[in-house]
Amino acid sequence: MRKVVLMLLSGIVLLACKKQEVNIIPVPMQVVQEKGNFNINKSTRILIDTDDSVAFKVATYFQNLLKSKGLILELDKVVNFPDLKNAIYFTKKGFVDSLGVEGYMLTVNTGNITICANSGSGYFYAVQTLRQLMPMGFESANANYSRLSVPCVRIIDKPTFGWRGLNLDCCRHFMSKDFVKRYIDLLAYHKMNILHWHLTEDQGWRIEIKKYPKLTEVGAWRQLADGTEYGGYYTQDDIREIVAYAAERYVNIVPEIEMPGHSVAALASYPQLSCTGEPLKVETNWGVFKDIYCAGNEFTFTFLQDVLTEVADLFPFPYIHIGGDEAPKYRWENCPKCRARLKSQKLKNYEELQQYFISRIAKFLETKGRRIIGWDEILEGGRPHNATVQAWRGMDRVDSAVFAGAPVIVSPTSHCYFDYPVDVIDLRKVYSFNPIPDGISVQQKKLILGGECNMWTEHAPQKTVDSKLFPRMLALSEVLWSYPKVRSYDKFLERVRRHYGRLSNMGVNYGFEQSAVKVNSQLSADAKSITVSIERGQENLEIFYTIDGAEPITKSIKYKKPFVLKESATVKAVAFLNNSRVGEVFTREFVLSKSTGKNVKLGFAPATKYMGGGLQALVDGRKGTEAYNDGIWQAVQGSDMVATVDLGKSQPISTVSVGFLQSNPSWIFIPKQVDFFTSVGGTDFTLVGTVLSPVKAEDEGLIRHDFTLNVKGINCRYVRMVACSIGNCPDWHPAAGSPSWLFAEEISIY
Ligand code: ACM
Ligand code: ZN
Repeated sequence: MRKVVLMLLSGIVLLACKKQEVNIIPVPMQVVQEKGNFNINKSTRILIDTDDSVAFKVATYFQNLLKSKGLILELDKVVNFPDLKNAIYFTKKGFVDSLGVEGYMLTVNTGNITICANSGSGYFYAVQTLRQLMPMGFESANANYSRLSVPCVRIIDKPTFGWRGLNLDCCRHFMSKDFVKRYIDLLAYHKMNILHWHLTEDQGWRIEIKKYPKLTEVGAWRQLADGTEYGGYYTQDDIREIVAYAAERYVNIVPEIEMPGHSVAALASYPQLSCTGEPLKVETNWGVFKDIYCAGNEFTFTFLQDVLTEVADLFPFPYIHIGGDEAPKYRWENCPKCRARLKSQKLKNYEELQQYFISRIAKFLETKGRRIIGWDEILEGGRPHNATVQAWRGMDRVDSAVFAGAPVIVSPTSHCYFDYPVDVIDLRKVYSFNPIPDGISVQQKKLILGGECNMWTEHAPQKTVDSKLFPRMLALSEVLWSYPKVRSYDKFLERVRRHYGRLSNMGVNYGFEQSAVKVNSQLSADAKSITVSIERGQENLEIFYTIDGAEPITKSIKYKKPFVLKESATVKAVAFLNNSRVGEVFTREFVLSKSTGKNVKLGFAPATKYMGGGLQALVDGRKGTEAYNDGIWQAVQGSDMVATVDLGKSQPISTVSVGFLQSNPSWIFIPKQVDFFTSVGGTDFTLVGTVLSPVKAEDEGLIRHDFTLNVKGINCRYVRMVACSIGNCPDWHPAAGSPSWLFAEEISIY
């Protein structure tokens, strides 16, 4: 009995001594936690120096924040060295200049709090840090405190990158004004400072332009299959309100007005803007469309300049994004006006015509004191006038931009596309993001402004956006703000898990850290077996799997440890939480054949984005899923695919097979045919058969097809496949004339 009392007592002592948690995301540059707490209560005063107007602004924001949580504090202006007893003091005195514009020092003692910065943003970020030092419940909508305990700390902090953004696509799905404001708060809370607001698209024009009312009367609405009109737009008053809201939170808004492509909603509103002038409907499908603004028509420039004049009046930030991505040149090539422009401007090709188009817009915007940003395609005809580049297709595009001398915003599909499922980009992957490519000079590094995550919303209506952006945005905010030199994902993950309570209290419906089921595999050194291990997306999930292709249920094998496959098999796995299924069944086909683990030599350069796991991916024993970006498919754009497998020694073979994918909205087509060749010595190859595709380019949906040839009786050491691309996207295709893709997986030889 006495022992129990003692244990209880020591528990109380332990509790009393336990330091209040400090867990700030993004992690500050320097944090020293000290003993004790400061208690904010009703008599705590907020103090600012008399002449510090930016401190007044942020201190008022802070005062209102506390008021919304039940604590009404006085805000006083003071001179010289005020009495700091029970005070929260915003001051520039003692600021270390090397902390820069956004840096701050935050000191919490038992008697007071000092917030030291020399700019509004510095003060503001100190307040965000202070907010994360408050009890978890502070973020609840119905929080009502009469006292708030803050742990004693000394924090010195500043960001590494000045550009820390989110690109929110409010076109594919319209997002309400309040939702956009909520995201401004969420960005600010995580010290992100850019909302790149994607406002015009094929599927909807979302910004009121007084001079061209049809842009929103017609262009803001698309017709769903059931005939209903779907869409919405922001009035200029809405926009002014949002811009002011963002400014108060030190978030700059970069509006994106897409040109020359992704503009069908504008062309549907004013058909005279297109090359054909024919009526169009606001797009209801996702993809890239060949109808773009006519570059030969002067009205296009008059229109865009009028639009951008109103845009520049609404958005004070010096940058305006003009898109510039995914603009097929098919219409221009076939348009007399565009051809005449090409000639009159003495341009060599249609990429140069795009450069002319964008430079003309950039020069116009310069007269309004604005600079343009464009997606990395804008470099294809030469860097447009004074353009900043947003690199998206890969880190190699960052290299191209800095070599062209352009400032860059880094947001590659490999790490920053948060519309992609966590199966493709998980939290760990985002946390490993490095916006600075290897091998660039110190001077070139200075051109890297920072990064953004992209939230494209083709498959993400407003209600699903939280689960795509969180928790991944926590990782991005830490990469861009803190840029930790040593990154321990496991430690970061622990901190993320401690942060979830705050997100929940803010009503953030965050998603998974990684796919509910993640199947990993390792081919044995002799390539005779594959060891499969399965990771769970969250700690409390149970995984069940099958290896015979059957749907897994809770009666299937419960995953406990890695298992070994000695022959080809289809592994299906699914997660359960408290006996309820979570997410989709994950399927991976493994093949063990004569070619598995042998050497393959590629006669093409796989796209860096779609390497399939490396140069040996076509013989690694793993077959792709229906997701082209699943990391298994290996791809090339605009060429055939040639690959030669070396079996190591001559031997009889009976079947050869290779898999391809078609997803024509993504410009991916099954090859017209695959030719198979064999050789004994590796120099002279004999054609042993051609397999024609049964799939037509027009065939819709996700189609996987294995090209298989019976080669019984052949003895060889080398097998070569040549897959013949269909060439450019066909005339009927929305991206007509653009080079198509081939996506291949496993070459199996039996
Ligand atoms: C893009 O994802 N098309 C920039
Ligand atoms: Zn034209």
